[in-house]
Amino acid sequence: QEDHFKKVIAHAKEYGYIFQSSEIYDGLSAVYDYAQNGAELKKNIREYWWKSMVQLHGNIVGIDAAIFMHPTTWKASGHVDAFNDPLIDNKDSKKRYRADVLVEDHAEKLETKAQKEIKKAAKRFGDDFDQKQFEETNPKVLKYRAEKQAILDKLGLLLSEERLAEVKEFIEELGIACPISGSKNWTDVRQFNLMFGTKLGASADSAMDLYLRPETAQGIFVNFSNVQKTGRMKIPFGIAQTGKAFRNEIVARQFIFRMREFEQMEMQFFVKPGTQMEWYDKWKETRLNWHLSLGFGEENYRFHDHEKLAHYADAAADIEFNFSFGFKELEGIHSRTDFDLKAHEEHSGKKLQYFDHEENESYVPYVVETSIGLDRMFLAVFSKALQEEELENNTTRTVLRLPAVLAPVKAAIFPLVKKDGLPEMARKIVEDLKWDFNVIYDEKDAVGRRYRRQDAAGTPFCITVDHDSLEDNTVTIRHRDTMEQKRVKIEELKAIIDNEVNM
Ligand code: GAP
Repeated sequence: QEDHFKKVIAHAKEYGYIFQSSEIYDGLSAVYDYAQNGAELKKNIREYWWKSMVQLHGNIVGIDAAIFMHPTTWKASGHVDAFNDPLIDNKDSKKRYRADVLVEDHAEKLETKAQKEIKKAAKRFGDDFDQKQFEETNPKVLKYRAEKQAILDKLGLLLSEERLAEVKEFIEELGIACPISGSKNWTDVRQFNLMFGTKLGASADSAMDLYLRPETAQGIFVNFSNVQKTGRMKIPFGIAQTGKAFRNEIVARQFIFRMREFEQMEMQFFVKPGTQMEWYDKWKETRLNWHLSLGFGEENYRFHDHEKLAHYADAAADIEFNFSFGFKELEGIHSRTDFDLKAHEEHSGKKLQYFDHEENESYVPYVVETSIGLDRMFLAVFSKALQEEELENNTTRTVLRLPAVLAPVKAAIFPLVKKDGLPEMARKIVEDLKWDFNVIYDEKDAVGRRYRRQDAAGTPFCITVDHDSLEDNTVTIRHRDTMEQKRVKIEELKAIIDNEVNM
């Protein structure tokens, strides 16, 4: 699995999907650039989301709020006071860590021990092995898991009560060493705010301290009344947006899974107080179905319902995805009550209420939010699509099985040879199809190698023009996933491609 993840990163670079930001200057950690194919894939994911969330819902509209917002926004939302990670430094290596991640990684080692016991037993018992029963009864497995849970519970308690000195003591008590130097010489734990600061205005005394937004949601909350009134929106209704968000992540690892500059796709659904649970369940289901519609198989998704809730939430769940490094959060669905709108009312002095004509009363709506990271969705799609396939003739091929609707290039058009008028005919097909699809022309190398190149780049169709084409206006169309080739009329190409790539 770790190997697969390495392949994903290398493949993303080799096929023009993702580059390290500012690579010629040795890069910037946890910041990435989307390359020629990556920008297309990312745009297609964004559009797939927008179409299903905005275009197909009569009661959801989309906005595009600014990244810069009035600084009081972040006071109201709680980010100034509470959007922190607990940091700790190792005095010898001078390396900085998230204290909670150090403890969690330590706890995870106990799970690894439990897994080892399970594997050992599986080998011993062979076909008769009942894993579930073993996990529920084996004393060693039970002990490791109980110890792990006790560590996580204690960590959760200390952090929620801001008992930072005790977090340090706990790290020492567990004997956690710096992963780089092995030293156990730790500094105190302190809170570190994840928001990036900047300044608005030129002169030193009039400049205003700003933050780069750490989530897009607040741009929706502060525009609630504007959109509701100008759009004559009736509750229940939603406001959606996609856009950049910034977080000064301390543990920035796992490629584009956790970035310092990333993009979110969020939707806030405004409902009548008391109906939020109904909508929360509905959005959980709707969002899971959106993921399943891409065809990666339901075994790759699971819900993780939160037991410990943020101060503003009355229910929360993640949709977790089976990444190369295990099941991890891909999307969050949160029932945020009236916390945000009320906080903005308080800090702005403006009413953010809805007048319900049927009930003849005003109220601050409750909010159910769906929030997904576009980059994280990109990683989910890209890594699951990348496959090594054994072929019948004992060779392997690398194929990027992107859903056709998301693929950057929908078809590659080849002349079989670079002469006899075939290039001209192939270019004519490109000219005809380019109005409807992103298509490319390729005449380099043998046709077999061109097919493999497009398989690895994720292109669903290859179209080859040969000498017969000149006679009868037919071409060969080859499907990436099945490698099946069919002879079709040139005039049918558009409908054939359209049938697979449109939502
Ligand atoms: N408005 C709610 C909110 O922002 P969140 O759980 O902090 O909730 C939502 O973030 C989603 O944004 C996550 O599920 C994840 O997909 C994505 N995300 C968060 N931090 C990220 C980061 N540093 N890099 C990439 N994606 C991130």
